[in-house]
Amino acid sequence: MIRRRTPPASPSRYASRAIARGVAVLASSALIAAATGAVAQKIDTPSADRRADTPGLTGITSGSFNGHGGPVRAVASHDGGRAVVTGGFDSAIIVWNLTPAFARQVLRHHDSTVNAIAALPGNCFASGGEDARIAVWCGSDDQPSRVLNGHTAPIAALAVSPDKTILASASWDHTIRLWPLDVTGSVTAGAPRIIEGHKGPVNGLAFTADGSALVSAGYDGQVRLTGLSARAVVLNTKVDAPVNAVAVSLSGEVVTAGADGFVRFLTAALEPAGAVDLGKGPLTTIALSPDGTRLATAGMRTAVTLIDAKARSVSAEILGPGLPVWSVAFSADGRELYTGGADRAVRRWDPATGRPAGVDIATAVEDVTANDPHPGARVFRACKACHGLDAADTNRAGPTLHGIMGRRIATQPGYAYSDALKRMDIDWTADTVARLFEVGPNAFLPGTKMPEQTITNPEDRKALVEWLASKTVP
Ligand code: HEC
Repeated sequence: MIRRRTPPASPSRYASRAIARGVAVLASSALIAAATGAVAQKIDTPSADRRADTPGLTGITSGSFNGHGGPVRAVASHDGGRAVVTGGFDSAIIVWNLTPAFARQVLRHHDSTVNAIAALPGNCFASGGEDARIAVWCGSDDQPSRVLNGHTAPIAALAVSPDKTILASASWDHTIRLWPLDVTGSVTAGAPRIIEGHKGPVNGLAFTADGSALVSAGYDGQVRLTGLSARAVVLNTKVDAPVNAVAVSLSGEVVTAGADGFVRFLTAALEPAGAVDLGKGPLTTIALSPDGTRLATAGMRTAVTLIDAKARSVSAEILGPGLPVWSVAFSADGRELYTGGADRAVRRWDPATGRPAGVDIATAVEDVTANDPHPGARVFRACKACHGLDAADTNRAGPTLHGIMGRRIATQPGYAYSDALKRMDIDWTADTVARLFEVGPNAFLPGTKMPEQTITNPEDRKALVEWLASKTVP
């Protein structure tokens, strides 16, 4: 049984403060308790077994990716649709390869929750954290190429202008910053433009399709449209509840996800144009499909809901697993929907049907754990996204575990270990590997980039190391 902890404890520092102030995303402590309680329960059920019985939901070989040590807070399509980047409550960023499915990289920079991810040109992306920092990552580098400082409170959202010249960030410090980008996705030097006007945390951001304006929305219920040309117009209106996320349709219609469970539509001039009551508590996220026809939203108590953007009516509901869902994003071609859930998994769906997508990749990669009756094979499913077992399986986020028993820590040639690991004095044996997952990587290897997870059952640990030893003999 794999159990993953959520460092820092969820609800986080800012979330608790938010609850005190009644901030939208986490509208009440009861909801938080419901959300985190659900997490704890899920983890202790033998989900690996259950998934094995459910075609289409078997670990990373089908519709879902497992590797984060906490709920998945942010998700974005990346690398021309070949990858997905996710950010978690565990402060880790994971770059997932889609076909075949495996974790390419685990990246560490932020001190706490990664709240937002935005794809940038040039195979780069930006991450925004609860620590108020924005990091820009490019290619396969394991360190940010730039860190953008300036915000003084959590970053809640990031958006990139359609012509890819501006990265916009929304923060709980009540401001928005516009960071100039150059064609390679690098953020150019020069001070960002600061946009003020919100009277509370800014939670959502979206550019209009022609890039002429930026729409923002926040806890104060304000929806603001800021023109970006020289003679910039500013429009604003107030909706009936705090707004947690916003999207803008191709025709300029604005759609908000509210703390009261309403999806609201506003015209390009910010006049009310309808609402859908999903009725079940705060909505946390919203995304518009690239062709503008579909909206996806989800919330603390609301399943992933697909809305026909034109008819403004619910077209499908995805009833889990993995609820509540913290983040949704469409693939670049709109044919897949990615969701990041409280159960730490990232899932792929077909937005037309609401059914799991990506089942095909089961055949694209040899699954080392399939049809292996040894109980350790089942436990290893929690590791296989990141670790190969053969000497040659070296392009995953973690080092290959080939020859792990008897290997000194951080000595697999060609793998870029964290400095923390390089400084440690451990030889991997059945005992030390079992201990690693008894106390968890954060405690056993402080400073490691491996996401937090523990294996609570001693028999599972024993089975894992036994199986691992037999599969990794040099
Ligand atoms: C999301 C990716 C991910 C998952 C899932 C994961 N690991 Fe890791 N693992 C890593 C990374 C990254 C490192 C390198 C850590 C560093 O350099 O700080 C690592 C390092 C290790 C090491 C030390 C290797 C060495 O050469 O010193 C062992 C052993 C290990 N992992 C075993 C496991 C096992 C067993 C599981 C499943 C129970 C697992 N890992 C799950 C990413 C992962």
